[in-house]
Amino acid sequence: MIVLGIESSCDETSVSILNNGEILSNIVSSQTVHKNFGGVVPELSSRAHLQLILPLVKQSIEEAQVKLSDLNLICATAGPGLIGALLVGFTFAKGLAYSLKKDFVPVNHIEGHMFSGFLMEEKPLFPYLCLAVSGGNTLLLLVNSDTEIIKLGSTIDDAAGEAFDKVSKLIGLGYPGGPKIQEAAAYGNAEKIKFPIAKTKNELDFSFSGLKTAVLRYIQKEYSDVAGIPLHDLYDIAASFQKAAGMSLLINTEKALKQHKVNSISVVGGVAANLFLRKGISDLAIKYKIKCVIPSLEFCGDNAAMIAYRGYKLFLSGKRYNFDYCAYPSSHYSSRK
Ligand code: KG4
Repeated sequence: MIVLGIESSCDETSVSILNNGEILSNIVSSQTVHKNFGGVVPELSSRAHLQLILPLVKQSIEEAQVKLSDLNLICATAGPGLIGALLVGFTFAKGLAYSLKKDFVPVNHIEGHMFSGFLMEEKPLFPYLCLAVSGGNTLLLLVNSDTEIIKLGSTIDDAAGEAFDKVSKLIGLGYPGGPKIQEAAAYGNAEKIKFPIAKTKNELDFSFSGLKTAVLRYIQKEYSDVAGIPLHDLYDIAASFQKAAGMSLLINTEKALKQHKVNSISVVGGVAANLFLRKGISDLAIKYKIKCVIPSLEFCGDNAAMIAYRGYKLFLSGKRYNFDYCAYPSSHYSSRK
């Protein structure tokens, strides 16, 4: 079964073709128009998707060495994301499917990430515990099958990636914060500052806003302004923050492992690129003697291969959708049963 997937929820335009779940092509174009704005500008993102979508579909089809008429299924990210950006890829995919008389599957972006471990050679075994961490979401999930996903915990305020981005901006390292903090942290002492790890009412929920404020207060107390922070202190702040943010994710993940018997563990989404977190998750897998599947870096960020794969699995499990399905911006995720 040949599947075309489109992802356009934020600042990556991506098109992928899979054959029975195997990747034939996966083209990801990251928008650069936002670099001077310290974050993604929604309207610029929509315009960049509009310019890129057709050439990338053509390129993906050529690279996969298939024809439009070979496609069996077309999938696209329906949400969550920036609505203007989503609408470009989603409407394009719907129009293509309608005109080619092919089936169409709308895909939840977070579910795309959750199943991204299946793009690896070593695949997760059900049931698996999935920590989904990106710029917009922080979720702990029990994935029992393709169609049963139980939400165990989520952030009650900022997403983990958002915390990395905000703290990076706060200490003058810029955007995107995750990679910049990780780079600076490599030179710092993570034991130097004890930043807090939040406790929440549901013990598997997360909270990052207090941690972000703690970094702000520390800087206000110790230095006159950001420009006055010596380089070595900056590295220590980055390392200490990274440890606190990472540990708060790992502590809850371990609590969930104690409560639920699983065969595998996976960490997915943009923040899964973080080396401290990747090591922590693989250490937990060793401790609990379960399989560890962490996507390679190209599949941690937004990509259409995971969207095509998720749509393909939903289609195989019998799900069918009609063309009046709409894209949605909301990032709330509920269990799927
Ligand atoms: O999944 P993603 O590419 O986009 C969505 O939010 O959907 O995630 C982007 C997030 C950003 O917040 C970025 O700072 C974070 O992932 N990120 C990282 C790292 N690389 C990217 N966070 C921590 N460490 C990293 N190495």
